[in-house]
Amino acid sequence: MAAVPNTFTEMHQRILDNINTAVMLFKADLTLIYANPAAEMLLGASMHRLVGLNFDDLISAKEPIKEQVANAVETTHPFSRHEQAISLMREKEVTVDFTVNILLSAFTEKEILFEMFPIDRLRRILRDDAILSQQDTTQDLLRGLAHEIKNPLSGLRGAAQLLERELHSEDQKEYTRVIIGEADRLQKLVNRLLGPSGMPNFVELNIHEVLEYVVNIAFKNKDGINFSRDYDPSIPNIIGDHDLLIQAILNIVNNAVEVVEENGNINIKTRVLRNFTIGENTYRLVIKLDVMDDGHGVSEDIKDKIFFPMITGRAEGTGLGLSIAQRLVHQHSGLIECESEPGKTIFSVFLPITNENGEG
Ligand SMILES: Nc1ncnc2c1ncn2[C@@H]1O[C@H](COP(=O)(O)OP(=O)(O)O)[C@@H](O)[C@H]1O
Ligand SMILES: [Mg+2]
Repeated sequence: MAAVPNTFTEMHQRILDNINTAVMLFKADLTLIYANPAAEMLLGASMHRLVGLNFDDLISAKEPIKEQVANAVETTHPFSRHEQAISLMREKEVTVDFTVNILLSAFTEKEILFEMFPIDRLRRILRDDAILSQQDTTQDLLRGLAHEIKNPLSGLRGAAQLLERELHSEDQKEYTRVIIGEADRLQKLVNRLLGPSGMPNFVELNIHEVLEYVVNIAFKNKDGINFSRDYDPSIPNIIGDHDLLIQAILNIVNNAVEVVEENGNINIKTRVLRNFTIGENTYRLVIKLDVMDDGHGVSEDIKDKIFFPMITGRAEGTGLGLSIAQRLVHQHSGLIECESEPGKTIFSVFLPITNENGEG
């Protein structure tokens, strides 16, 4: 922290630590002297690693941004760019708004204040909101329908059973057995549509315990799969329902197990994100849990719809796994997202780390 000016108050520190704008301070020779946590997150490295790096190691683009910044240092004229495509650390492509200000002080030489706000992220937040409300509507509809089917269905089954007792010919009983068998099949489907019933039982739990439980079930007797884990052991406990989280994550992992080939790879990774927005809420800490596989990827024709109920790409699929998983994660104020291309599919579960009152 040696480079941070000594007039830095605790309040300023708090502000810089918590704003969503990435703030960086450079010396006039364009080497970095400070990056706030939002900048660390965007650049994917700690300030410790970043300090001393050159502007173009951190930020590069087709346009000569570095030259424009150097020019601003000369003229002391600030400037801004809107929706600029840049590359961070020479690898991560993002679209940002940014502003460059030249700081003049009697005590230090000129400094460059670089503020950057990712636009992709903003789009993502908007999209999340749309996803959540769309899914809520469809699921309410389906759950309503499932409820309506449930009662007549047991009446139907009961009546078929009574009828069966009255029948004497085996040939005729064959028909009632079909009715009962099909009613049972429908019942199962309806139960899956309704999902786990009863009030969730929220307790303090460790996400890695949940994961290990899932892993034990999902990879039992699956010898041809290379499974690896990359857990961040510093993740604090969350408040959640054990069984519901197991169910949600198991649905995702089971899908990965379905698609990987002989000797395919599945990796589960956990990380903590700071100041992350899910829907309309921004949480101080959020767990990001990635389930990655190297299977064929989600087919293009259903990519936008996989979280909706009854959407399946598999002949024997029900298309309920992901929609149930999304609903269960949503009950934890979280969200599931998917990025997929052939050979690399990542389902990311975002779970806010909140206290007992749901504040995060
Ligand atoms: N890891 C994955 N790789 C490729 N496709 C996937 C993956 N996970 C889910 N999908 C696609 O999403 C569809 C919906 O999944 P899901 O809701 O669990 O229903 P189901 O497994 O019954 O088909 C799957 O049928 C499959 O086409
Ligand atoms: Mg499934």
